[in-house]
Amino acid sequence: MKVETLRWFNNRLEMIDQRILPAAFEYLSYYTASSVAEGIRSMVVRGAPAIGVAAAYGVALEALHLQEKSADEFKTGMETGFTVLAASRPTAVNLFWALQRMRKVWESVAMQTPQQIAQRLLAEAHEILAEDIRINRAMGTYGAALLKDGARVLTHCNAGALATAGWGTALGVFRSAVEAGKKISVIADETRPFLQGARLTAWEMVQENIPVTLITDNMAGYMMAQGEVDAVVVGTDRVAANGDVANKIGTYMVAVLARRHNIPFYVACPLSTIDMNIASGADIPIEERSVDEVKGFRDYHWAAEGVKIRNPAFDVTPAELVSGLITERGVVLLPDAQSIRQLMLG
Ligand code: MRU
Repeated sequence: MKVETLRWFNNRLEMIDQRILPAAFEYLSYYTASSVAEGIRSMVVRGAPAIGVAAAYGVALEALHLQEKSADEFKTGMETGFTVLAASRPTAVNLFWALQRMRKVWESVAMQTPQQIAQRLLAEAHEILAEDIRINRAMGTYGAALLKDGARVLTHCNAGALATAGWGTALGVFRSAVEAGKKISVIADETRPFLQGARLTAWEMVQENIPVTLITDNMAGYMMAQGEVDAVVVGTDRVAANGDVANKIGTYMVAVLARRHNIPFYVACPLSTIDMNIASGADIPIEERSVDEVKGFRDYHWAAEGVKIRNPAFDVTPAELVSGLITERGVVLLPDAQSIRQLMLG
């Protein structure tokens, strides 16, 4: 089954509602920038590249929505759309990357009519979506070469088709390895508190018939100590110029364990996730989400009433713990400021 995380259908954006997967598979429709921003904030769509694609469509939808207005009203409305989208989630840099790309396109056709601008922005959103799948395929090929036949690979969160326009980054590496004829098996961390591993990664791998075993996050060390993990591959929300990697909360713990057990720790990372404006991971904004996500799941609360709760949604893995960044331009082993600068120069 081909997972179309986002699709353009009947002049609107449709996105799979990832909050209810795998219990139900449903698309929700979006017509404006503010509704797309709410879809990003509430995690209907999540995962750095998918958030970027959604934001690009948010801009295009806003332009279509405003295209009958005067040039001035169109401009003001568009600026509001950009602001609302930029405020939806702070950590994944792909959101800001996509907004900047859409803004450049807008600026390049600013003298045209709102209708023409809207069509140009929509074409760009389509291109960002198609490009994302091509990039994931390229990363998949490079990443698959790092995995030996029979490898047992641990992943954290969901960096799959659901986190992108399709194929996935970390899970794209697994798909490509299988396509290349390698027998691999996946160990999926449950990924508390939002359960992207249990709900989304497990679902994707089961759909693909790729052998997958679900563990709770606190079992990773045991599995590694038992010699049951050959490699770790995760995705990322933002990589700083020095190679520090922000990803789903718990990733840092996995990286430390991997180093302790001499297991390679790879990060699948499209260039759009590298933020050259941020010198180190210390400057990456870390989203703090609602405490309700930690208190329980959906309507059921198991935490003691009155307890203080924290819910940072991401953590930073220092570059020194990263064995390699898998990008669409190849693998950067032991990334640091110099090799990343080189990579970005092409
Ligand atoms: O909070 P989420 O579900 O948006 O977090 C997603 C992750 O941390 C992914 O690992 C990351 O975005 C890479 S997705 C290819």
